[in-house]
Amino acid sequence: MAMLHELKGPFSSFVDVENGTIAREIFSDEAIYQMELERIFARAWNFMCHESQIPKTGDFFQTYIGEESVIATRDKTGALQVLLNSCRHRGNAVCRAESGNTRSFLCTYHGWTYDLEGKLIGVPGFKDFYKECLDKAKWGLVKAAKVASYKGFVFATMDPEAPELEDFLGEVGRMSLDLVAGQGKLVAVEGIQKNIIGTNWKLAVDNLFDWYHGEMSHASAMMAGVMADPNGGPLSKEAREAILAPNNHRIILGDYGHAIGGPRLTPEFWETFEAGQIKQQGVARGQRDESWRKRPEVLADLGEIGRDVRGHPNIFPNMWIANNGQICMRMPKGHDKTELWWFTFVPEEYTEEERKARIAGANHAFGPAGLLEQDDGENWDQSTRGTRGVVARRYPLNFQMNVGQGRVTRPENGPSYIDGPMNETAQMWTWRAWAEWMDAEDWAALQNNHTRAPQDGEFV
Ligand code: FES
Ligand code: FE
Repeated sequence: MAMLHELKGPFSSFVDVENGTIAREIFSDEAIYQMELERIFARAWNFMCHESQIPKTGDFFQTYIGEESVIATRDKTGALQVLLNSCRHRGNAVCRAESGNTRSFLCTYHGWTYDLEGKLIGVPGFKDFYKECLDKAKWGLVKAAKVASYKGFVFATMDPEAPELEDFLGEVGRMSLDLVAGQGKLVAVEGIQKNIIGTNWKLAVDNLFDWYHGEMSHASAMMAGVMADPNGGPLSKEAREAILAPNNHRIILGDYGHAIGGPRLTPEFWETFEAGQIKQQGVARGQRDESWRKRPEVLADLGEIGRDVRGHPNIFPNMWIANNGQICMRMPKGHDKTELWWFTFVPEEYTEEERKARIAGANHAFGPAGLLEQDDGENWDQSTRGTRGVVARRYPLNFQMNVGQGRVTRPENGPSYIDGPMNETAQMWTWRAWAEWMDAEDWAALQNNHTRAPQDGEFV
């Protein structure tokens, strides 16, 4: 793995920020992928679950950090715990269920038992076979170095040197979560939709910022009414344009690769909204309306810049917050496979009818039964194949849409944003950060050497 790195120079050489090109092998090289598991996933704060999924002592939810299974649980004191799901004896999984409630985790191989804090509390034959010569205190489950939650969203990092969660998120990561938390008191819908696609995880992340593909990739889904007109039938071309707002995009750029990209709500939108002429715009079915954005407590968090975001936030590396109450984790499963986990959130205040509409909207947009995801997955699969060939690899991928032409505005309290037509700025921002994560030996190096949110008047 180190060999390729040494041969090709630093990872920053794979990402040409000035010219807007990216070397194809970062999407298909096994050695690079292994390095990503180490330098990105084992280092970053990773989203685990929502607190509403594990409200009581003993509740647990099994998820992943990189390719490694971890258990998010709540211990007897009510504290959140994240434990590596691997027995310290021979490595077997100690938890096979996706979620549930338990008093302890019993390994099915030889029966070692761990409590909710990961302590080893039971060893069959401890007296007779081990002669009590096993220091149980040393053989508990491996625990996440840090666990914390922001507005109910639980994160964990395996790296003790990682900054605190709020610092890792920074203004853009926090805004990203505020954009869903602000919709009301959230409850996660039971059951996560999981779908494996033959794509490199980064191409799936790249796509969440991509508003360019909609008219082409999703033409048939639109004809089939995936974005149905409230009065029935598919949306008109004009209505689709109003939703995709190709000339009114807002890109917000944060530290460590966090970014938001896509359409924004314009002053004209708010005018017609306030006049009661439209109830909603540009959201999958199941978004009640946009008035939550103007609640004082929400506005205090989002500010006016965040209030008008209708694009897609991504918390680096792989947490996509869609604007219909869905959150997706792009879970790497090898350099050419990604499992997509879709969580659906519904505000408690929704009526039963609204709740059903939101869930139905989520089911038909993304996830295994989602029309949009079917379209996207086909393209990502082919794109991933297209990064493998020895000839194809000689030619980089193109991210030149608006490169270097986005003028940054940064109010005194942030965030740094760019308003303008559709562009590929958020993608390049993320892949520039990717190279910084990959080149940094440790957290201290990453903290010192990463690109900060750009300043007012800069061009990105
Ligand atoms: Fe778990 Fe042996 S592997 S008890
Ligand atoms: Fe798509």
